[in-house]
Amino acid sequence: MSKKQSIVDLRSDTLTLPSKAMRKAMAAAEVGDDVFGEDPAVNALQERAAALLGKEAALFVPSGTMANLLAIATQTVPGDSVLLHEDAHPFQYETGGMSMVAGVMPKTLTGPQGLLTPESVSDGIMLTRDSHRSHTTLVSIEQTTNRGGGACYSKESIKAIGALCEERGIRLHCDGARIFNAVVADGVDPAAYAAPCHTVSFCFSKGLGCPVGSVLAGDKETIEKAHRYRKMFGGGMRQAGILAAAAEYALDNNVERLADDHRRVTALREALEAIPNVTLPLPSPTNILFIDVADAPDFADRCNVRGVRLLPFSPTRLRAVFHLDIDDDGLQRAIDVMTATARQYATAK
Ligand SMILES: Cc1ncc(COP(=O)(O)O)c(C=O)c1O
Repeated sequence: MSKKQSIVDLRSDTLTLPSKAMRKAMAAAEVGDDVFGEDPAVNALQERAAALLGKEAALFVPSGTMANLLAIATQTVPGDSVLLHEDAHPFQYETGGMSMVAGVMPKTLTGPQGLLTPESVSDGIMLTRDSHRSHTTLVSIEQTTNRGGGACYSKESIKAIGALCEERGIRLHCDGARIFNAVVADGVDPAAYAAPCHTVSFCFSKGLGCPVGSVLAGDKETIEKAHRYRKMFGGGMRQAGILAAAAEYALDNNVERLADDHRRVTALREALEAIPNVTLPLPSPTNILFIDVADAPDFADRCNVRGVRLLPFSPTRLRAVFHLDIDDDGLQRAIDVMTATARQYATAK
């Protein structure tokens, strides 16, 4: 039995291993030096990503973190402030890069499921003649929200936030690391989510199952600036077409199947809802489920020895994320192991 079959690893959707077919596509890629702009596979992918999002241009980058940093660095100047949810990835998990590299100040907002609203954004904006204040020049939203349980912005809510930003002369970035989970869950064209945003990024290395890669899309001028900054940040890759080929394969084969991940989250949720010793603190509309228990690290250890891996998120909160390396047998195993473990626990408060 392979490692992949023997362990049901629900810690993250970044854990997927490239399939044989994806590796075959990578091996067949026609490549060149992308720093010279001569990698045909990268160029084709960038054009496809820009078209998918209805933007003028797109840039292939090594990670979602770099895509967010480029979006921030290109659309602000040092001393500005960036408005984002307190649970947003660039605030929580990107090592303060926006402050160190772009020199900006994050200003965080609260709200259910990691989502901002036009009202919360409006309250948070700092744009004033008062020379004491840092001006808000960028708002960043997350589609779907990682720490918010995979919640999706509706296209209407992004439009409303976009209209507010437009009115106030502020740029809007969408960290769309998991935008395709929203696309599949809500049946919305990615370009409809992207339209109100000046820049949008998404990741190939999460639900789409690639080993590496993200894109940042936007207007030509911003992407040209991002191209220059990507080189400065050390993200200029040479024969990156082998990675672009994986991304093309993922767009062709791994988007619609995200619905299976969502269905499996719902099945696990329903199984756990019937168990008294666990609480499900957030809705789970896509591929992420949060589970509250009395002792999360201990619960995770007990599941781990029985071949099911969960991510302890806090002393009492666990995260389970479904992805393309978890099939229905894996789901059943997760249900069996987690419900058996849960029966041993008192409910977390
Ligand atoms: C919402 C979100 N944005 C950005 C990132 C960063 O992606 P990467 O790990 O490729 O830097 C992640 C990673 O999990 C994420 O969940």
